[in-house]
Amino acid sequence: MAEIVYLNGRFVPYEEARVPVEDRGNLFADGVYEVIRFYGGHPFAMQAHMERLARSAREIRLPEIDVAALAEAGLETVRKNGIGDGSLYVQVTRGPAPRSHAFPREPKPTVFMIARELARPSRSLVEQGVACITVPDIRWARCDIKSIGLLPNVLAKQQAVEAGAFEALFVRDGILTEGTSSNVFAVKGGKLVTHPEDGHVLPGITRRLILAIAREEGIGVEEEPLAAALDAVDELFISSTNVEVMAVVSVDGRPVGDGRPGPVTRRIQAQYDRLVERVRAGESIDGLIAPRAS
Ligand SMILES: Cc1ncc(COP(=O)(O)O)c(C=O)c1O
Repeated sequence: MAEIVYLNGRFVPYEEARVPVEDRGNLFADGVYEVIRFYGGHPFAMQAHMERLARSAREIRLPEIDVAALAEAGLETVRKNGIGDGSLYVQVTRGPAPRSHAFPREPKPTVFMIARELARPSRSLVEQGVACITVPDIRWARCDIKSIGLLPNVLAKQQAVEAGAFEALFVRDGILTEGTSSNVFAVKGGKLVTHPEDGHVLPGITRRLILAIAREEGIGVEEEPLAAALDAVDELFISSTNVEVMAVVSVDGRPVGDGRPGPVTRRIQAQYDRLVERVRAGESIDGLIAPRAS
């Protein structure tokens, strides 16, 4: 079946989807994006992702996005491609204009979506956990915006791949902020510790779901910076839409805890699995996610 993508209000075959070379996404990475998970063809926390997209767009002063219409088109993109377990990529840029840093007078945003099959992480990987490396956090101070400007993330992830690691974790002023495409949680004395929602991390949707799970499970949470020395850290895990909840069993070659996924991580994974199954059965889990303060 020919792949169908969404581009500026139309569903077109992949080969026919064209964006002008002077699109500001191309020239300046002047745009924002989202990645939404699907299980059995059903969206996982679609509303939360769309709200974050609208916020990212506002923060970079893009024209208002009709997120309800976009969500509908996103579902249609997934349907048209017959995606079961997959991932929908949504990108909005400030559109084409002759190259000049300041905004064009009348921006015409480019809106693009593509849906791809994506299996859940394999059971063996989840049971084994993954290795990570640390890298200096050279990114800007607005990591809360889901910007398509991802070069530091790209370079760091490549470094991880070349080191045989699964993910690179950013360290800023001795603080472990987040991964290249994941949030980070530590378990210390039975409590979760994760970086607060400030400019140094993306307010992850998976992160918020984990906080909701922790509340339900009676697991304490501290939204506080985590020292990269990882002193007294019993368990560590990363979270993201695509990777879900993944135990980190070593950092820079040193084992975390006993070098195996710990009990708190496994408890959260089990509850997360239940959410996935609820979505697969057609239920919405958006009601579980607390809206952000701003
Ligand atoms: C830098 C960064 N942090 C965190 C995350 C996790 O966010 P979410 O759980 O919403 O996928 C991502 C996701 O791609 C990311 O790119």
